[in-house]
Amino acid sequence: MSMRVLALETSCDETGVAVVGKEKGEIKVLSARLASQTEIHREYGGIHPTLALREHKKNLPLLFRKTKEEADPRQWDRVAVTVGPGLEPCLWQGLNFARKLGRGLGLPVAPVDHMEAHILVNFVDQVPDSSLFPAVCLLVSGGHTQLVLMKKVGDYRMLGETRDDAAGECFDKTARMLGLPYPGGPPIAAKAHRSEDLNIELPRPMMGADDYDFSFSGLKTAVLYRIRDAPQKVRESEEFVQAMAYEIQAAITEVLVKKTVKAVEDFKAKSIILGGGVSANRRLRQDFRARARTRGISLLLPPKNLATDNAVMVGVAALLRPGKRIPLEDLEADPDMRLGKE
Ligand code: KG4
Ligand code: ZN
Repeated sequence: MSMRVLALETSCDETGVAVVGKEKGEIKVLSARLASQTEIHREYGGIHPTLALREHKKNLPLLFRKTKEEADPRQWDRVAVTVGPGLEPCLWQGLNFARKLGRGLGLPVAPVDHMEAHILVNFVDQVPDSSLFPAVCLLVSGGHTQLVLMKKVGDYRMLGETRDDAAGECFDKTARMLGLPYPGGPPIAAKAHRSEDLNIELPRPMMGADDYDFSFSGLKTAVLYRIRDAPQKVRESEEFVQAMAYEIQAAITEVLVKKTVKAVEDFKAKSIILGGGVSANRRLRQDFRARARTRGISLLLPPKNLATDNAVMVGVAALLRPGKRIPLEDLEADPDMRLGKE
């Protein structure tokens, strides 16, 4: 039995359209298109919701037209679309486009949770078999930092989340303070270099706390003060930027690894699953690999090009978790959608 899904992603600042199929239990990506808006938002140092909506409106039909030429619509079985969490107008834009397609093509529309999609994209080339569960999922993006206990596909419990800024947001904001472009994760990773001469120490907020929550705003403030207090000549030197980038990345990584490992121990997890844009970070991936190896548990890392927002993950989620059929007019966007909510 084969199954093909047309998938749409518009929850944030990437417009994605993909066709993903499942044949003999194997997932295949048949088409994957992405219109990134980072250049447009860079000027603002973050996401500008009105511009994001304008870009989705413009790009969805363009990407769809190309997708249709690449993958035959007569073979599609359903349309999948992200309905939350995300920017509300952007979610509705995607959902209404999906509804229109569903009506036109006579296909059902499957609502997908963006965070679940970040988890399930790990199964693009690996079967979610029972030896991996329970799993502890660390979801780290520009808008979220969450630790989720996963008993199986579709069964999630929220263990903890950030009380203020998300990990990606911390990369983005501190990068901006250092004069690095948006989004801040990649340039911080590229600049990170330990200095022999500059002694830079930043806090690891809540690292020792006896829970699964995170907090990154204190780290952000510490970075601000450290920059402000440095003599101008030091502050403007490449060595300072590199050393700060190194320490910011180290602080964020150490906190994320420590809390995740604590959850693994407490819940006797069989695997760690990473998801979200920050999981593209090389240092984070290295540190998790080392930890998983010493503990002898499995580690699932999303392919780097599928770690940040895309439509393939939406298609994979819809294939792995078909769900029940909902009438098109009953579908709704939910900007505050939360995994594990009763
Ligand atoms: O999942 P995502 O594409 O969008 C949201 O749903 O928010 O995540 C975007 C975030 C940004 O904050 C960006 O700085 C971060 O992921 N990011 C990284 C890296 N690549 C993207 N952070 C650290 N290292 C990276 N290599
Ligand atoms: Zn995301």
